[in-house]
Amino acid sequence: IQRVLTGITPTGTPHLGNYVGAIRPAIAASREPGVESFYFLADYHALIKCDEPARIQRSTLEIAATWVAAGLDPERVTFYRQSDIPEIPELNWMLGCVTGKGLLNRAHAYKAQVDKNTAAGAEPDAEVSVGLFNYPVLMAADILMFKAHKVPVGRDQVQHIEMARDIASSFNHLYGEHLVLPEAVIEASVATLPGLDGRKMSKSYDNTIPLFLPRDELKRRIGSIVTDSRAPGQAKDTEGSALFQIFQAFASAEETDGLRQAYADGIAWGDAKQKLFERIDREVAPMRDNYQSLIDNPARLEDLLQAGAAKARRIATPLIAELRHAVGLRRLS
Ligand code: TYM
Repeated sequence: IQRVLTGITPTGTPHLGNYVGAIRPAIAASREPGVESFYFLADYHALIKCDEPARIQRSTLEIAATWVAAGLDPERVTFYRQSDIPEIPELNWMLGCVTGKGLLNRAHAYKAQVDKNTAAGAEPDAEVSVGLFNYPVLMAADILMFKAHKVPVGRDQVQHIEMARDIASSFNHLYGEHLVLPEAVIEASVATLPGLDGRKMSKSYDNTIPLFLPRDELKRRIGSIVTDSRAPGQAKDTEGSALFQIFQAFASAEETDGLRQAYADGIAWGDAKQKLFERIDREVAPMRDNYQSLIDNPARLEDLLQAGAAKARRIATPLIAELRHAVGLRRLS
């Protein structure tokens, strides 16, 4: 049995990057025989970058609805909210005690803030919470708690999976082989989906295309993807074209070749955008109505999450008991 696990942080509306980087491959994996899957809402992680409670709650609803609308089968998959599993913060603590501070000093998210501070002439650790610094340890706890073998993610998360391996090795070295070393799974063609401005599609750059926009808004958003100023009839470059890369993430190899040829033939940007819109809409439309009815029925989603949490804890509780014993947190009699 292979265990596949991944999570999304509920701080915003799910976008095409989350879909192609994590949700779509995760759902495909969950349908394979011999795979046991664990998909969750990383709401403890949300606290690292968001201090708006209403936004976290709304985003939790949207992301839960997205998973289900995208085809997650709650009977087959263990689908839960991180904060419903108290064993995770407990494991976070145990792992923190076997993690060198030096390892975390190298984490991208932390280093990015330090670099930003240094460039602005501020204290290196300005705006750095202990939560941000500890981010990779909490993420290791998410993964190691369920002995996941494979973790489908976008390229931006690969370093965290490597750190989870390092942390698991340190723990096993000290206390015996209790934890499984996970591996990241990235789909080369969609490892980093670009956003409207060509940078990585990201909530923090405000350059996203939300997955379930109404049709006309989806079309408008796609219309605002940045292109160069080449006129219709002039050949276009696929290299560095965000529009082309997003198309590729949705289309078959054949369809992609078709667009490559159209670029060479000088397709007008407006026509290329129309093709992209049609391709995305074709994939998303069947899920859109379902998404809306799920959003309108939070009680149903909450029931699913509670059932998922109970299922998850049937695995987490015995493992945490084993680990407590392993490290010496034991009863006297
Ligand atoms: P988050 O919420 O930032 O992103 C969720 C998933 O979407 C992927 N992704 C992308 N993939 C391709 N192109 C993009 N432009 C793009 N933007 C986002 C991310 O790589 C990720 O797979 N810390 C994690 C959540 C998490 C987690 C975990 C993931 C917490 N614990 C354990 C896996 C295992 C995060 O903030 O992802």
